Amino acid sequence: MSTPTASTFEEVTQAVAGVEGWMTPGQARRLWTCSRAVRTGGRIVEIGSFRGRSMIVLASAAAEGVELVAIDPHAGNDRGPQEIDGFAEAAADDFEVFNANLSAAGVADRVRHVRKFSGEALADVPGAIDLLYIDGAHRFGPALDDIKRWSAKIEPGGDLLIHDCFSSIGVTGALVASLFFGSDFRYLGRSESMTHYRKEPLGTGERARNAARQAANLPWFVRNVVIKALILAKLGQVTRVFGHDPETWPH
Ligand SMILES: C[S@@+](CC[C@H](N)C(=O)[O-])C[C@H]1O[C@@H](n2cnc3c(N)ncnc32)[C@H](O)[C@@H]1O
Repeated sequence: MSTPTASTFEEVTQAVAGVEGWMTPGQARRLWTCSRAVRTGGRIVEIGSFRGRSMIVLASAAAEGVELVAIDPHAGNDRGPQEIDGFAEAAADDFEVFNANLSAAGVADRVRHVRKFSGEALADVPGAIDLLYIDGAHRFGPALDDIKRWSAKIEPGGDLLIHDCFSSIGVTGALVASLFFGSDFRYLGRSESMTHYRKEPLGTGERARNAARQAANLPWFVRNVVIKALILAKLGQVTRVFGHDPETWPH
């Protein structure tokens, strides 16, 4: 059994520096902290692993005896920003690179890869989940399906992290339709577009406050949609007025 090459957050930051992906340093820190908090015998599930950038952080932080499951069909859909369909060839490479990256980071034999779409993989993960990270399909329907069906498997007190919130229209719509007014998940905050929820029962007053705290992010969402529209209209330089780097897609 190999051991992770990184045992500190600083080391894992270096380990993933050359791994393609969109996870920011702040988001890596949140993944690291949440993964560290999972008890031995617990289970971490990631939906959407791409080339392993975020899974390397989760697996390097996890205590021995924590099960790690990566669900990704590597089928060529929702590969990255504006890569929604038709990337099967690139995704075949992603699968190879994912395995190579996990091996290089010393975590390949800690992670069970389920090469399926999340909607077809529920039976592959029997039992409860302590930490669920969703970064797979970004369209409204499948994003909502992931949030509803997979978050139902989270243990009380467990954590839910979701990428591309308040930046992707589909994912944000799915949030509004599920977690905004729900009674099961408390909103704890976000690192850029990565939101963090904890499974806890909420009373009526708390639900209203929970919705208001999430809704406070809507101006930032509008800003991100405007930035994306400007980039698509080849007016990226104008995004500087929002303090944005025109070379990057908001995430
Ligand atoms: C944005 S990338 C994930 C990036 C990764 N979390 C990281 O930080 O390195 C999205 C990934 O989701 C996968 N994906 C798309 N639809 C999916 C689905 N329904 N279930 C699981 N994975 C999916 C794609 O194959 C792609 O690799």
